[in-house]
Amino acid sequence: MPLEKYQYVSNVWRDGIFDNKVVFCTGGAGSICSAQVRAMVHLGANACIIGRNVEKTENMAKDIATARKGAKVLGLGAVDVRKPEALVEAAEKCVKELGSIDFVIAGAAGNFLAPMDQISANAMKSVIDIDVLGSWNTVKATLPYLIESAKKYSTDGRTEPTKGTGGRIIFVSATLHYGGTPLQSHVSVAKAGVDAMAMSVAIEQGPKGITSNVIAPGPIADTEGVARLSRSDTREKSAKTIPSQRYGTVKEISDATVYLFSDSGNYVNGEVLVVDGGQWHTSGVQ
Ligand code: HXC
Repeated sequence: MPLEKYQYVSNVWRDGIFDNKVVFCTGGAGSICSAQVRAMVHLGANACIIGRNVEKTENMAKDIATARKGAKVLGLGAVDVRKPEALVEAAEKCVKELGSIDFVIAGAAGNFLAPMDQISANAMKSVIDIDVLGSWNTVKATLPYLIESAKKYSTDGRTEPTKGTGGRIIFVSATLHYGGTPLQSHVSVAKAGVDAMAMSVAIEQGPKGITSNVIAPGPIADTEGVARLSRSDTREKSAKTIPSQRYGTVKEISDATVYLFSDSGNYVNGEVLVVDGGQWHTSGVQ
């Protein structure tokens, strides 16, 4: 077993738990989502990652495919989550090439730091459109395939061993909106919408075997989010305000993902799993 694997996912997970399954991920070339997908691929899944930048998305797909011998990872660039028809087409391509969609990660997001008086109506709309509408479009386009997968794999909680899991959604959110966060009015509103969507999908689609949950990462080291949103010269000091005394790792987000997508997460639905070292319980968020 190459040690490198455990940089991406903990050794508590069994190899092959996602064999013959497919994960569809928007924002899949980004630092957090690519790690989530890579962990799933390490554990047996094939994947389809969606992005706006063709070169970045295709290169990331090739890179993720090296995680496991024989893995198939499709990189679909030039897909804007704000365009519903583009997502429908991407989902169709994914199923044609890889056979199914069993898991969805709605991870595409837009962000920048700005006070409200410097955010144009179009800038606000861009973030809401990418985060909220984009997540909704993603679930809408993939739902028929997820329902099909859930029919095949949903469990009554007693059957052992199971045939694995399917029909599961994870939205990638944030903790910004648990309090008021300066310079983040646009994203706070958007992520609150994403959380609400996850709950509605859970109760509406749960009877069909779908689970819909949220992962809310705190500050995660070496990610685009942290690079964009925090000053490098204050990171060490700000890490010490987190109960865990450090920034998180992408592996810790991947482990949360595997938990929710695996049999371990069978009875978790409509929940937000905060992975932030306890940060949001302190007075300062981010
Ligand atoms: C104010 C800004 C701005 C800034 C762009 N705009 N950057 N306004 N401050 N820093 C404005 C533009 O002027 C324009 O408004 C409007 O936003 C749309 O910008 P475009 O570039 O035309 O649109 P688009 O290409 O769609 O860009 C969307 C974006 C951009 C969200 C603005 O930042 C983006 O594409 N981001 C994607 C990548 C990303 O952000 N990843 C970070 C994920 S990290 P006008 O009025 O001039 O037309 C993350 C972590 C969240 O999400 C949680 C943190 C803890």
